[in-house]
This record gives sequence, C-alpha cells and structure tokens, in this order.
Amino acid sequence: MLDKNASKNDLTLELNELVDVMLDSAPERLIANKSIVDRLVELLCDVTKIELHPALFRDEHATTTSKGRAVSMTTAAQCAEEFMRTQVFIRGAYSAITEQLKGKESIELLYGGTGPFGLIVLPLLHRFAPEQVQLTLLDIHPESLEALEHVIEVLQVSDYIRSIQCVDILEWDAPAKAFDVIVSETMKMLLKDEPQVSIFRHLAPSLKDGGTLIPRQVQLDAWITSDGKERNESHHIGRFFTLDLASSLALSLQSEPKIECSLELPTRQNKVVDLTLTTYIQVYGEEWLYDNQCSLNLTFCINDIEPSESDGKIHFWYEFTRLPRFAFKYDVDANALEKLTLLADPLEQNSIGIPYIKHYWQKHQLIKTGRYNSNTLGNAKCENLEDRCALEHQMLVALNLPLYETLQEVYQSRTEEEFCDFILGKNNGVLNPSQIVEVTQLASQIS
Ligand SMILES: C[S@@+](CC[C@H](N)C(=O)[O-])C[C@H]1O[C@@H](n2cnc3c(N)ncnc32)[C@H](O)[C@@H]1O
Repeated sequence: MLDKNASKNDLTLELNELVDVMLDSAPERLIANKSIVDRLVELLCDVTKIELHPALFRDEHATTTSKGRAVSMTTAAQCAEEFMRTQVFIRGAYSAITEQLKGKESIELLYGGTGPFGLIVLPLLHRFAPEQVQLTLLDIHPESLEALEHVIEVLQVSDYIRSIQCVDILEWDAPAKAFDVIVSETMKMLLKDEPQVSIFRHLAPSLKDGGTLIPRQVQLDAWITSDGKERNESHHIGRFFTLDLASSLALSLQSEPKIECSLELPTRQNKVVDLTLTTYIQVYGEEWLYDNQCSLNLTFCINDIEPSESDGKIHFWYEFTRLPRFAFKYDVDANALEKLTLLADPLEQNSIGIPYIKHYWQKHQLIKTGRYNSNTLGNAKCENLEDRCALEHQMLVALNLPLYETLQEVYQSRTEEEFCDFILGKNNGVLNPSQIVEVTQLASQIS
C-alpha cells in the first residue's frame, strides 16, 4: 500500500513539474518544449488507459450536436499532442485565474468540453489552493468523464471539483452570472465544424461581470496576396469576425443568431490575387496562437480571385448548422467567365485541394453559354466522350456526389466556391486523403 501511494505521489510530482516548466518558460522557449508536452501526454494516457493512436482509427465516436461536432474521446486526447496549443492554452488559463484572484478570495470556473484529460485546467491546479478555485466540468461523452476521474485522482485535485456533469452544453441549463472564468476549446480553424460559437453564445450570460472567456478572443481576418508573392507580402483587407465576450453576448440576445460581414476587395489593375483567411487566437493576455502554430490556426487559401473593376466585395456569413462554418462569396467579375477561353488543367487543384473540379466547373459554364469546343479544352487530352463521361462518373462516385443533383448544382452555382460548398456538404465538411488520391488518378487519365 505504501509503495502504491509512493509511486502515485511520484507521478503527481512529475506531472506538476512538467506543467511548471510550461508555465515558467519564456515565450520564445515554448517551441523547444515539445518533449515536455509529449511526456505529459504519455503520462495522462497511462493514467487513463487511452490508446492515442489505434492501428485502425475511424473516429466513429464523435457526436454531432445541433450546432457542431463534439469530437470523440480519442480525438480530444490527440489534441493534447499539439504542443503549442497545449502550452498556450494552459498558460492563458493560468494567467486568467491569477488575474481573477486579484481582489477575490475564490473564483468559480466553468470548463465546457473537458475531454478525457481536462487538459487546459486540471494540470495547473497545484499552483492554487482548493479554497481559491472551484470547478464545474462538463462534457458530452461519458467515456471522457470516466477517464477524467482517473486524472483527478492522480493529480489529487478532487477538492477543487464542485461538480462533473455529462451534458450537451448547448442543452445545459446555464446559471446566470455564476462564473468568473469560462473555458472552452471546441473549435477548428475559421470556427468551422465544432460548436465554439454556439457554446460561447449559450454560456456568455453565465459569466459574472468582470469575468473572462478562455479563449478571450478569436479573430478571423482576410488578406490578399498578388500572384507570385509570398504570404508575408499579403495585404490585410479586413477582419470579418471576432468571437469574444461582446459578440457572444450580442448573439445570445438573438433568437435566430446572425453573423454577416462584407469586405471590399481593392482593385489592382486586374491582377490575379489569392485570398488568405487566418484564425488568430488570444487565449488570454500575452498568450496568442498565430498562423499555423497548431491545427486551430491553419490558414485557408482561395487562389486566383479576379477583383472586379468596380465594387468587388467578399461577403461572409456564418452557417449555424450541425457542421457550422463561414461561407463566403465574392462578387464575380462579370467579364471573367466571358474571357475564359481555355479550361484549367484537369490536374490543377482548387481551394479545397481537389484536382479536376475547377476544370469540371469551368467546362459546364462554357457548355451553358455555348462556347465549349475543342479549342477550349486546354490540356484535357481524353477526347473520347464516352471515356471521359465514364471517368467523370467515377470521380463523382469517389466524391459521394449523386449524378442528377450534381449536374443541377454545377450549372446553377454562381462560382466554383459555391460548387465546392456543395461537394463539402455531401462529405460532412471534409474530404479524406483517399478520395483525393482516387480523383487525382482518374483526372490524370484526362490530363
Ligand atoms: C477539442 S476537444 C478539447 C478537449 C480539451 N478541452 C482540450 O483542450 O484538450 C473538445 C471537447 O469538447 C466536448 N464537446 C464539444 N461539444 C460539446 C457539447 N455540445 N457539449 C458537451 N461537450 C462538448 C467534446 O466531447 C470534447 O471532449
């Protein structure tokens, strides 16, 4: 018994020491702390008996709520491996708690979506006393909360826990102005797929006056880069949304929430430009995550936009659906399609990384306007119509696209992006690598 307790204490000590390194590192040293985060994850997996990378992982245990996907226990555990995300979130939560405790003896913290490790908050609790911080922990997945009980035991933090509830946060009866800090990391880049926006909309009224959300803000920005220029030569055209306390409270007052914005695309002598969309996260204070520091900050690029001569604008709006996301549309240069004389190479990838779709969409616009002929084919070499139709049909099957509906969509969509939205919609918002490989192989028989 003595031995068992001794080794448990050793484990607690090691976990606390790892988190102390993360908290005490200078910001520029975080990049060198990967092995510290890896060790933390290894220990937490041992404690919870979670197999982080099963041989055959299909991620079938996610739950699709009315306003976004709650990732499975295994996926939530894998998030911990993103070492910049893990450190910046833990450091930000630590600063927020420290700030909130200035002038108060104790604070109430709500953690919405703990995953199996309660990673953003539980490992830092040894820096505070249980009388200072009391936690309410929520997650939709019972298996995650079962694992969390083991983490609580090994970190010896049960005295800090006010309650643990297995609920869909969006259905939870959230008490008004009850918490000093509300933590939730339920997002992907551009606030897509997961329910972060709706969770903050639902929980913001539960924050006491002077309280803080973690992350404190998520900024979504649009940039343009001229053809051939590097990303660091981008020109900022504007911010299309900030998720923070103010916007969350404003959304909470709307029964049918709406997020919309339009940004002006500057006219640049008809030069082709690329549009880049970024996600910057301020967890708290100095703790920020920028371009590509983790999967939540991947930049998203749309190539070859032709700004219209006059008032070319990009319109953004958020779709509050089971797979929420920003949709965007830019004013198409009315002449752009008329100027099109040569189809894109069948192997050219489009904004969502699939070949052939650009070519396929352009081809149907030419057919629609009676301008499709052997001169417009460009690099498309498979001229036998039957072979070509058969290959296209196989591509549609690979992309889960029903023939009749897809033909309707390809003719009716105003832009290629709109057609891509349709494709993503038929694939739960993401295409898997094997689909892209299959389409590439088929497209190479046409190119
Ligand atoms: C991306 S994981 C993050 C886990 C952990 N907080 C971390 O940062 O490592 C998101 C977690 O939120 C939970 N979640 C997402 N939507 C939820 C909802 N509507 N109600 C309850 N839990 C939810 C998921 O089950 C998952 O455990």
